[in-house]
Amino acid sequence: MRPNIAIDGPSAAGKSTISDILALRLGYTHLDTGAMYRAVAYGAFKSGLPFDAEEAIAKMIENMKLVIHPDGKVFLDGEDISNEIRTNEMSMGASDVSKLGKVREALVEMQRRIAADGGYIVDGRDIGTVVLKDAKVKIFLTASAEDRAKRRVKQNLEKGLPADYDAILEDIIKRDYQDTHRTISPLKKADDAIEIDSSKMSIEEVVDTIIEIVKKNS
Ligand code: DC
Repeated sequence: MRPNIAIDGPSAAGKSTISDILALRLGYTHLDTGAMYRAVAYGAFKSGLPFDAEEAIAKMIENMKLVIHPDGKVFLDGEDISNEIRTNEMSMGASDVSKLGKVREALVEMQRRIAADGGYIVDGRDIGTVVLKDAKVKIFLTASAEDRAKRRVKQNLEKGLPADYDAILEDIIKRDYQDTHRTISPLKKADDAIEIDSSKMSIEEVVDTIIEIVKKNS
């Protein structure tokens, strides 16, 4: 069985972009767990549920049909919500619903089931610490908040999404705080994860560094 690779780190550190390229180069499948929290936030928003309505959101998850395609497209009950979940509002919403124990329980179970056969690059916040504690390769990807905001502006411009630098930086700082301070499974580096600060690195350099680590560990 091929191993799984866990990639954690704060918002907009490049986890998704890097995971996509790694998946292509290694022939693995990328699972973006942030998209799953975003889809839950979007579902709650559509149903008129406040982001702290734990019981109601947990019930909603039981009945929703969430499909994450390996190419990154996200479908909720048959609707393509790939772009809708990328707004600042849904970023904060995802961070809000991710504080809820029952939401985490349900999504962690789904994530473990998906990755059960190995060969996945799973990116998120608690992959190395909770979801795939036994992953052979664990990466903790960081970058300064300013560098992350600059990258997110560029990415949003390319996708035709709102790209105001100040609003994005503020959102990143707020989410960093919320994601590292929540009670259940806060964002933190697993003891056995390798930290890569990508502030001054190109995407290719980060990818090559991780591929070296994978080679050493297989
Ligand atoms: O990776 P992202 O920015 O798309 O994630 C959105 C939010 O979801 C993030 O602010 C925190 C939450 N999240 C989480 O708690 N655990 C994960 N494994 C992935 C995301």
